[in-house]
Amino acid sequence: MLRLKNICKTFNKGKINEQKVFDNFSLSIDEGDFISVIGSNGAGKSTLLNIISGKVEVDAGTIELKGEDVTDQKEYEKCKRISRIFQDPALGTNPSMTIYENLSIAKNKGKRFGLSFLIDKKDEDLFKGTLKVLGLGLEDKLHTPVSQLSGGQRQSLALMMAVMGNPELLLLDEHTAQLDPKTSEIVMDITENVVKERGLTTIMVTHNIEYAIRYGNRLIMLHRGEKVLDISGEEKKNITKEKLLSLFKDISDRTLFA
Ligand SMILES: Nc1ncnc2c1ncn2[C@@H]1O[C@H](COP(=O)(O)OP(=O)(O)OP(=O)(O)O)[C@@H](O)[C@H]1O
Ligand SMILES: [Mg+2]
Repeated sequence: MLRLKNICKTFNKGKINEQKVFDNFSLSIDEGDFISVIGSNGAGKSTLLNIISGKVEVDAGTIELKGEDVTDQKEYEKCKRISRIFQDPALGTNPSMTIYENLSIAKNKGKRFGLSFLIDKKDEDLFKGTLKVLGLGLEDKLHTPVSQLSGGQRQSLALMMAVMGNPELLLLDEHTAQLDPKTSEIVMDITENVVKERGLTTIMVTHNIEYAIRYGNRLIMLHRGEKVLDISGEEKKNITKEKLLSLFKDISDRTLFA
């Protein structure tokens, strides 16, 4: 459903701080795939998501979404089809607005109307139902400003907002990295349920190797803009943390002394 072909991307080309991230990078993903992506800092994970979402333009190569060439589409043109959650809970929601207002905006994503027009009192039941699934009690706080929620509650709300319009693709960029271990487990649990229930095609970047192993049907390791591991099915099921860490070390050592 998503096909990246021969993607090239260099930041600050020709300048002293030139940074080549991808050189002929290709990736195909199937409908319903839940892919976890791991890799060292600076490997290109966030850039990959930025390229897919349209935030970053590629220098060369093509991006196809469900057979349609979307290479030159900007982020706002794709935002209804591709939803994204970031590491920082402050980015996915608007803190000065209430939960109700945030959900209203998410529901009407892509529409160009004033906020007062978007807030529909009839949505209360829909929003309550949406939030109840989370099991965090947020359905009773519909008129609370989001700034009063914890990081985990905000990420969970961001997740429900991201999937509200039934996107074709969900991109998660270390969305549990700033949460404490317990809250992180809860948000991952919610993520898995939502993804499964809706059959969402998902790419999840994580530094948590255990999550990368536990969740999803495919695992990709990136290093310096290259796929150094791409496993799915039984192979993914049988992978262990030890094997991944040892591969990680081998690759880092190899490039360190190359
Ligand atoms: N907008 C940008 N302008 C210039 N350089 C950038 C930009 N975005 C990313 N880079 C560079 O591209 C490389 C890949 O960055 P990216 O953010 O994709 O890494 P990452 O794999 O997400 O790392 P991390 O695990 O630290 O989040 C880095 O060297 C980074 O400095
Ligand atoms: Mg990143």
